[in-house]
Amino acid sequence: CGIVGFIGKNVKIKHLINGLEKLEYRGYDSAGLSFIEDNNISIYKKEGKIKNLKEYVESILEKDIQNGIAHTRWATHGGVSDENSHPHTDQKKDIAIVHNGIIENFQILKKELIEKGHEFFSQTDTEVIAHLISENYSGNLFEAVYETKRRLEGTYALAVIHRLEPNKIIVARKGSPLVLANSKDFTMLASDITPLIKYTKYVNFLEDDEIAELNSEGYTIYDDNKKIIKRNEIHITWDETLAEKSGYDHFMEKEINEQPQSIKSALSGRIKNNVPNLVELENIKNFIKNDLKKIYIVACGTSYHAGLSMVYLLNAYSDLDINIEVASEFRYMNPHVDKNTLVIAVSQSGETIDTLEGIRIAKEKGAHILSMSNVVGSTIPRESNSVVYMNTGPEIGVAATKTYTAQIAILYLISAQILFYREQYSTEIKNIVSKLEKIDEIFEEVLTTKEHIKEISRQYVNYKNMMYVGRGFGYTAALEGALKLKEISYINATAYQAGELKHGPIALLDEAFPVFAIIPFNGLKEKMISNIMEIKARKARVIALTSSEDERIKEIVDDYILVPNIEEALLPLAVAPITQLFSYNISILRHLDPDKPRNLAKSVTVE
Ligand code: G6P
Repeated sequence: CGIVGFIGKNVKIKHLINGLEKLEYRGYDSAGLSFIEDNNISIYKKEGKIKNLKEYVESILEKDIQNGIAHTRWATHGGVSDENSHPHTDQKKDIAIVHNGIIENFQILKKELIEKGHEFFSQTDTEVIAHLISENYSGNLFEAVYETKRRLEGTYALAVIHRLEPNKIIVARKGSPLVLANSKDFTMLASDITPLIKYTKYVNFLEDDEIAELNSEGYTIYDDNKKIIKRNEIHITWDETLAEKSGYDHFMEKEINEQPQSIKSALSGRIKNNVPNLVELENIKNFIKNDLKKIYIVACGTSYHAGLSMVYLLNAYSDLDINIEVASEFRYMNPHVDKNTLVIAVSQSGETIDTLEGIRIAKEKGAHILSMSNVVGSTIPRESNSVVYMNTGPEIGVAATKTYTAQIAILYLISAQILFYREQYSTEIKNIVSKLEKIDEIFEEVLTTKEHIKEISRQYVNYKNMMYVGRGFGYTAALEGALKLKEISYINATAYQAGELKHGPIALLDEAFPVFAIIPFNGLKEKMISNIMEIKARKARVIALTSSEDERIKEIVDDYILVPNIEEALLPLAVAPITQLFSYNISILRHLDPDKPRNLAKSVTVE
């Protein structure tokens, strides 16, 4: 979910809508807004995407309001409906509230409130907060929110207004992100910086357990004991135009095509004379050199796939013990990490709660936490011992594209830096780093095959299932290819190690079940050709993606895509724009919205 709010002299309804549009990638099941008018709370909410709400409030977009809060929802508690949309109010309609997170003890609180005579209008956990604030209210909204938050278990970023105190918005945070900022016209709050960069480049990230009061002059942040917190604002370098489509039909299309530049920007200044130059790791140089015994990568979704490529790389070129786990499993599995472990948290948004909780556990066990994120000042970097930012600019499409390739590139550099510090910097790894430096050229070349990929995509639009297979680095690429397809086309796409087919998955294959084969070019190529023969014997249609012209492959497969010949380890990078474009084309041909796939959100701050 995403929340946004404005207070000041020049606030209009359109500012709230505009803010929501920037946050839409965080959830788009329903949206709503609220403001105070003549000491009464006005609420407008609508099921569906933000454009439904925008149409609904069309006639009042230019209306001046003193303050307003708004929300775009990714449903957790309670189905998608107008009633369950935020903002929620208390029984007397004195208060309006927007909330991102989950209140775990809401049923207990609700029962208590029902016993006191409260009546509820929705199934949400959020409505309970509004009622509790009203219960605690005795003329001071700040105090009422402060008292309420002491009773809440779970996660929240809250913004609250009261009809009798129109000159303030109270916000509080625990577990879910919240950013505050000032501009000459108003004071603002939002779940992330994208709605704010239009008005200012200086923002303040609220920390857990903090509470703040916003008014037209600015904001004051307090800690859990109501002590004022003074903290310098963070300077954001993102430009607003980076968060616009710039002539492309979709953000995803723009972000796929932007990869030559985004990867360049991610690597900029980080390689010198074929040697990694990650200054962010200097503070742990001695730890890496003398104490490091084990690496654990923790991530979700696409970030996990990027992490897996690093595992293959370090396994091939180092003697380190390297592990990876999906964050939602890691945190509950009693992970074996200690002071000799480096835990690498990979998270584009820097806010994914599963990953955040994972690093908290690892930290308690004494591990050193290195995180990698695209969002400066986000929670995971703030709670880490070392941080490497991705520097790729904002990614708006829900399906990760340019941030995935930047993640792999930086994880490879981190690997190389570790090997360099440990004096294991071999010629092979040096060669990979030197090729990595020029990977933008490979992307340029790969993107010239756009029309060819479009033609191939047309042949696969109507299938219900699809399988991606690969070996080694080709397998990590297959996993991400399948995830991209299922996310935005809703085709049931799965990925397997090609050698594993014979142990089960091959039973699925027939004419109606095509296979996307990512063929490596080292010793495993021959094995992969045999696997393709096995697939063809089951009459499945095959697309082969390979970097070496091979007549034998051409002869046996149905569609053939050639990528430039590069180092084996760079295969996941070189093929990424192709599998991304393939999924994008299919999504468009199926008349879907690749930027906002159903049931998904870009940043998931609930468990
Ligand atoms: C969500 C997104 C995925 C993303 C995952 C991890 O589920 O829909 O695209 O890969 O979160 O996000 P992170 O921000 O931690 O990389």
